[in-house]
Parts: sequence; C-alpha cells; structure tokens
Amino acid sequence: MFKTEAEKILSLEYLEKGYVIRAASDLDALDWIRNQFDRIIRELLNNVSDVSTENLLNNIHSYVPVSQLNDFRLSVIREINAIDKFREMYYRVAMDYLDALVGNELAMQLRINLSIQLPGDDSSLLPVHADVWSGDSPYEVVLWIPLVNCYKSKAMYILPPKSSDELNQEFSKKANASSEGLYQSIKGQVEFLEVRYGEVLIFDQSLPHGNRLNDEEETRWSMNCRFKGVFTPYGDKKIGEFFEPITLRAASHRGMSFKLPELK
Ligand SMILES: [Fe+2]
Repeated sequence: MFKTEAEKILSLEYLEKGYVIRAASDLDALDWIRNQFDRIIRELLNNVSDVSTENLLNNIHSYVPVSQLNDFRLSVIREINAIDKFREMYYRVAMDYLDALVGNELAMQLRINLSIQLPGDDSSLLPVHADVWSGDSPYEVVLWIPLVNCYKSKAMYILPPKSSDELNQEFSKKANASSEGLYQSIKGQVEFLEVRYGEVLIFDQSLPHGNRLNDEEETRWSMNCRFKGVFTPYGDKKIGEFFEPITLRAASHRGMSFKLPELK
C-alpha cells in the first residue's frame, strides 16, 4: 500500500476500533458552522441575547420544552440545509480524514442530520442498530460532528469490530430479542465515544451503535452525514436521490462522458 505514515496510522486505527476521533481538519469551517447555529437559534428563541453560544447549546433544555423539541429541531435542520455552502463547510471540517479513509472522489449525503439530546429526555433515543441492517451500503461512513463537548451518556456508543464479529456469529439467536435486550447483551463491550467541540468522529456505520438516556446536565448537539467513494457499490440510498458526487476528478468526468467513435 502506497500510503503516507499518517494515513497508515489513521487507517489502522479505523480498522481496529471502527472509528477515529481527530482535531478538525479546518477549525474555521467548524466555527463558521457553529455560528450559523447560533444565529438560527437566536432567531427562533427570545430572551437569549446575553447567553454565550456554548451555554446556549448546552442549556437549550432551559429554553425549549421537550414537547416542542421536535418542531424546534426540524426548524433548525431546515434552516441549516437551506444555507449555501453549509455542506461544503461540513466536508471541509474533516476533509483530510475523509480523503485518507474513504477516498478523494466522494459522494456526500444531500442532507445533514441533527441530533439534540436533552438531559433525561427519552423521546428521541436511537436504539442499538447498524445502518447496514436497514439497507445502507457497507461502503458508507458517518461523519459525526458535535457542537458541544460530548462525554459519558451525553455521547454515542459503538460496538468495536471484534465484538461486532462475535455478535454477528450468534446473531440469529439474538435477532428476536428486543433492541433493549440486544443492548443489554452487548453493554459490557460498547464504547462511549468522548468527542469534544473542535473534534470530529468518523465511524463505521456497519457496527452496532446508538445512544442511551442523556444523564448528564447538558444537552447534546451533534450533526451527522454519510460519505462514500462515489464509484463504490450503493445500497438503498442511491446517487442522485440521497448522495451526490462532491469531489469528482477530471479523469472521471472524461471517463463518464466518453463514447467510442461509431464505425458507420
Ligand atoms: Fe446509525
């Protein structure tokens, strides 16, 4: 493999652990993104003018009741996805790592998702699952970027590759269990991923993952978006409707539009 030392280290870590956590490739792009959130939230809420961005995000449960959380979340998602360059900035935040782990001709999901986990709120939990179980291509990775520091139960968890292989071996025995039963059977092996603001997480969505009730005192804000090599096999999520090429190279442009000359 003709990889640089840094690429080899990153790749080995990803293969062994099923994820990597690194300082943002472009911290300015991340700050730009968080400033967009700050502006949107202040437009949606009243009486938050003296609060810092970090406190506003971490304490959003003081301003938005659980009953209004989903509408609030959908409004924020709509607004961020309507911003020109938002996806490009999102890509830039982890560009070096995506290029090294996935490739330099990438397809990116058209919409960026947002998760808001209020302390003690059980209404928007993500039970243990792997995206491939519901039709995603195993070639997809998830770029997960927090807007606040995430730790302990404020973080998401993942089952590492070795434990995931063991689970797959006896999957037919466990397939009938409830998702809570499944979680209980793997909870000794899952790893909660501490990711601070300023860092990015890229994880293998074919490994079981999810979150638990946020027992910390702060609200979690995290974005997620899938990436894959543009010429790798697709699952249910297709190019054009779900993914779009973002870094197609000149030779691929030529190759895709090439037609052999006709003989008559
Ligand atoms: Fe997932």
